[in-house]
Amino acid sequence: MKKLLPIGLALMMAACAASDKNNETETSLAKAYEKYWYTGISVNQWETASDNNPQTKDWKVIVDNFNWVVAENCMKCEVVHPEQNRYDFTLADQFVDKALSANLKVMGHCLIWHSQCAKWFHYDSDGNLVSADTLKARMKEHITTVMQHFKGRVAAWDVCNECFEDDGAFRNSLFYQILGEDFIKLAFEYAHEADPDAELYYNDYSMNKASKVEAVANFFAPLVKNGLPLTAINMQGHIILDDGAQKIISDYEHSIETIKTVGVKTGFSELDLSVLPNPYGFSGANVSDKFAYRPEMDPYIDSLPAARQLEIDQFWIDFFKMLIKNRDEITRVNFWCLNDGNSWRNDFPIRGRKDYATLFDRDNKPKPTVAKLIELVRNKQ
Ligand code: XIL
Repeated sequence: MKKLLPIGLALMMAACAASDKNNETETSLAKAYEKYWYTGISVNQWETASDNNPQTKDWKVIVDNFNWVVAENCMKCEVVHPEQNRYDFTLADQFVDKALSANLKVMGHCLIWHSQCAKWFHYDSDGNLVSADTLKARMKEHITTVMQHFKGRVAAWDVCNECFEDDGAFRNSLFYQILGEDFIKLAFEYAHEADPDAELYYNDYSMNKASKVEAVANFFAPLVKNGLPLTAINMQGHIILDDGAQKIISDYEHSIETIKTVGVKTGFSELDLSVLPNPYGFSGANVSDKFAYRPEMDPYIDSLPAARQLEIDQFWIDFFKMLIKNRDEITRVNFWCLNDGNSWRNDFPIRGRKDYATLFDRDNKPKPTVAKLIELVRNKQ
């Protein structure tokens, strides 16, 4: 026994050294942060295609780096429910099946949203807006059919997306015009009935703005007290670097604290960081907002200056420090679009620019930011 002790000790030391080494060579953001939250990414329909589309090579990068995925477009109403009596789950099934076979958790995005909603949804056959009762029935049928199709496969849903304006007013969407604010509560109730096991989320942009996050919190707080099945209020996080990193980060920290008062968790659902000039002080992520292309708004068509990349790294490090501090409130940190080449920021809010908004470059190589964020959490251990 005495003789075995040093061998046991040596084995233990070897095991510890190996695990330290694994830790040091960890390159997956999701694994590095898994004790705090899920790390997710949005996936487009070409990345999960069954043909030889060049973007299918992204899939390995997605599986190696993330543990939660959300469809960038293919589960939206206009795609899955293009006509009143026709559903089309072809792309969505392809995405969900591929994600599940790689053991990735899936977020369904999204059930009720003013944008990318099928044209028929709010109108009758004469082209008039439908009555409140008809819209309720359509919402219930849509939510129930979509959620039950994916029941047991899709763990969580963005039930309502972008129902507030930045100043805190209700968005004057057709859902709101026909049903008033009740449509939000109804959507959550229908969703809970359709799949009582699913996690149910509210999702919005510009949630760094106090006017918006406070309105969202004030709206949901009494409903949650009365039993609304809301899992979390998520913040999209489409950020513009030139808007001022430190202010953005401290504003988001205030938003996390505000959402905490509602008694639900929070998270980031669509993070990206545009490094291009901000036209006309634009903010938010209303997908219909567009500005004309001007060359001076597209300064990095050849390459991104190294100093700019350092600013980006510093932004994410400071942002993640704030997230780590508030980790008990956060369930998911999700990025929007895998790489700079396929990021929607190249076309929003100005079409055809060259942005550098994601964590992976145009060759799918992780930017130095990724290693720095992994280093950050390793130092916390
Ligand atoms: C965007 C997609 O990335 C684009 O490809 C599409 O053209 C428009 O929608 N808020 C959301 C996302 O909730 O669904 C949006 O995604 C970005 C803003």
